[in-house]
Amino acid sequence: MTSSRSDALIFFGATGDLAHKQIWPALFALTKSGRLDFPVIAVGRKDIGSDAIRKKAKESIEESGHFDAETFERLSKRLSYVAVDYERPETFDAIKQAVGTASRPLSYVALPPDIFERVAANLAQAGLAEGGRLVVEKPFGHDGPSAKALSEALYRYFPEPALFRIDHYLGKEQVENIVYFRAANPLFEAVWSREQVACVEITMAESFGVKGRAEFYDEVGAIRDVVQNHLLEVVACLAMELPSERGSVALRGARTRLLGRVSALEPSDLIRAQVRGYTNEEGVAKDSRTETFAALRLFVDSPRWQGVPFYIRTGKSLAVSATDALVRFKAAGGPVLDDQRPPAQNTLRFRLSPDDQVALKTNVRAPGDAERGQASELVLCRSSAGALSPYERLLGDALEGDATLYAERQAVEESWRVFDAALASQSELFEYDEGSWGPEEAARVAPDGGWTNPTVGDKCA
Ligand code: BG6
Repeated sequence: MTSSRSDALIFFGATGDLAHKQIWPALFALTKSGRLDFPVIAVGRKDIGSDAIRKKAKESIEESGHFDAETFERLSKRLSYVAVDYERPETFDAIKQAVGTASRPLSYVALPPDIFERVAANLAQAGLAEGGRLVVEKPFGHDGPSAKALSEALYRYFPEPALFRIDHYLGKEQVENIVYFRAANPLFEAVWSREQVACVEITMAESFGVKGRAEFYDEVGAIRDVVQNHLLEVVACLAMELPSERGSVALRGARTRLLGRVSALEPSDLIRAQVRGYTNEEGVAKDSRTETFAALRLFVDSPRWQGVPFYIRTGKSLAVSATDALVRFKAAGGPVLDDQRPPAQNTLRFRLSPDDQVALKTNVRAPGDAERGQASELVLCRSSAGALSPYERLLGDALEGDATLYAERQAVEESWRVFDAALASQSELFEYDEGSWGPEEAARVAPDGGWTNPTVGDKCA
């Protein structure tokens, strides 16, 4: 395995929902910037043919709003489709043919994790593993033991440096900005610890449900879908020790070390809930006990964070779609001058979606005679001009062999360690209404003063 550039892309799951929403636009952007100038082989079960996949790709790119005919023509010329039967390894020989003379193909697998091993084995028998790279979608495994076993199984065909475990949150500009912001603003780093921080609070709210993905979702649930991976990586970016050395190894290592410090979630610190009506969705088991909402409280066992709660909340079919990560500082200890009301906590807010903001809540004197304060946010809207989409960023990196923004084996195993016992305990499943902020029981694991609901009215233009 060398760090040389990949020279073909084999794309499993090319007709799926993720492909439509994210991957085709990312491959288009990579083509436009000249980084995808080799064969792209879309692979699926159905024998739909190359013209059909070109049509699907076009529709997806048009929907993304970034279509241009000249770039699409370039992508389209390199694009072909191969139908395979995962149970018949010899069907992978057609992929080898489509790859032509390329000797360092990158295979990207946007399929459920139980099929990763078979795909890897079939690629190997077709001569497509040697010198190649494998990028697999999350969740990586179903729990700690299965994640370990999956790494071991994949190592038979792809060594760790050739194995890329994707978590698209690590490819989000907004998440990268958390680390950059901390490193570039020592003002905040000076108060970034248990001395000044009361708690950290992350809410990832989605106003849509599981339509179209119910079969996948019902197997995983909210914790495995977004908490064990996306939101824990956000915790890592917020709480890790900033590396003193440059480079990808140091950055990846710092995230992994932090994950190793997160204490296993106590089952009593977890509230799971299911949105009413979920079991009527097509593809959902009628007796499903899968959570579509989770609220929880974690602790990081390090001198910096001892005793500081990290609150995480996520759910489908909630009131809005927005993700905020808040660092809430301790409030002033006593009355402020003659104002008898306690001032609000200073809060640094990273808006991770739908837009990109960093905001600092401060207290200012309200106008008028009375000595009264009012909380007011200083909002910085980051421009999205020149921003790369997460998949453009991550697939582009993997094609170059750069794993900085990928989760290494230990990181994934540490993340499962945090959740394994709580997931196995099959805690009570509460209910909530569509369009709400989740079940009232979420208050049992809420920060002092309750959860902070993201508002979307103040969206950056
Ligand atoms: C995916 C989950 O990984 O992330 C989805 O499977 C979720 O359920 C999505 O909706 C959220 O990603 P983003 O980038 O829209 O916040």
